[in-house]
Amino acid sequence: MVFASEPPARARASAKVDLQDRLKEALRNPRLHEPLLKTGSQVAAVCDRCHGVGGNSPTPDVPNLAGQNTVYVLEQARQFAEGERQNEFMRRMIRVMTSDEKIGFSLFYGNQKVKPAPAQNAALTAKGQALYTKDCESCHEDHGRGDEHLARVAGQQPVYMTVALKRYRTGSGTRLDRDMAESLVTYTDSDIDAVVAYMRSMP
Ligand code: HEC
Ligand code: HEC
Repeated sequence: MVFASEPPARARASAKVDLQDRLKEALRNPRLHEPLLKTGSQVAAVCDRCHGVGGNSPTPDVPNLAGQNTVYVLEQARQFAEGERQNEFMRRMIRVMTSDEKIGFSLFYGNQKVKPAPAQNAALTAKGQALYTKDCESCHEDHGRGDEHLARVAGQQPVYMTVALKRYRTGSGTRLDRDMAESLVTYTDSDIDAVVAYMRSMP
């Protein structure tokens, strides 16, 4: 709903806000949702090679996109395109895509199901569960599926998560987030192994 008293700053919203606004509109409006989803499923053919068909990655160092939250995926696409999250391949690929292609793949992957990966090592997973409950579930939720804005970690690929957590912890600049850096201040490498084992096993 648009209010007459809305401040003019809204009208000067940045391209980033427009992209997220259009996604929100698509989530509300089936007539926009349907064609964007179709575009997304076509674009996804380009991503299959690395992220797997339907976004279940065949390799532990490439993230699943299946079941990942739409707002989060679209925000990561922006970060890659602008070089805030550093990955040269992803930057070059996403920079040439249209807004509707980016919104489309975010919707498409959000609709896919993650394949479950049962726990491999019970002791490590139990240690990880205790850490997760204490330090992580306040944001990523007890089920690990986050919310529409926040990253899903349930079932995510283990090598990918380990690398991501170490990047946040060292703050090297490849990928920065203050909340994540603070959450990991006291974490040793073996704490990271444990929490990753638990998140990987979450359905
Ligand atoms: C050549 C392999 C390759 C292809 C093709 C590829 N990606 Fe990626 N993608 C990666 C890798 C590797 C990462 C992890 C990058 C990192 O964290 O450094 C990644 C990360 C991502 C992320 C971040 C996921 C997260 O959990 O934060 C998104 C979103 C993404 N890719 C979307 C796409 C989309 C959409 C396509 C197709 C249009 C695509 N990728 C094609 C390799 C690929
Ligand atoms: C205060 C909220 C908050 C807390 C607490 C938190 N996270 Fe996060 N987490 C985030 C945000 C926000 C992001 C996305 C940051 C970005 O854009 O790179 C994220 C990203 C991640 C990612 C990357 C997901 C992906 O697909 O690339 C992993 C893995 C993760 N968090 C695990 C954890 C673990 C493990 C803990 C506990 C030790 C934790 N988080 C605690 C907010 C939080």
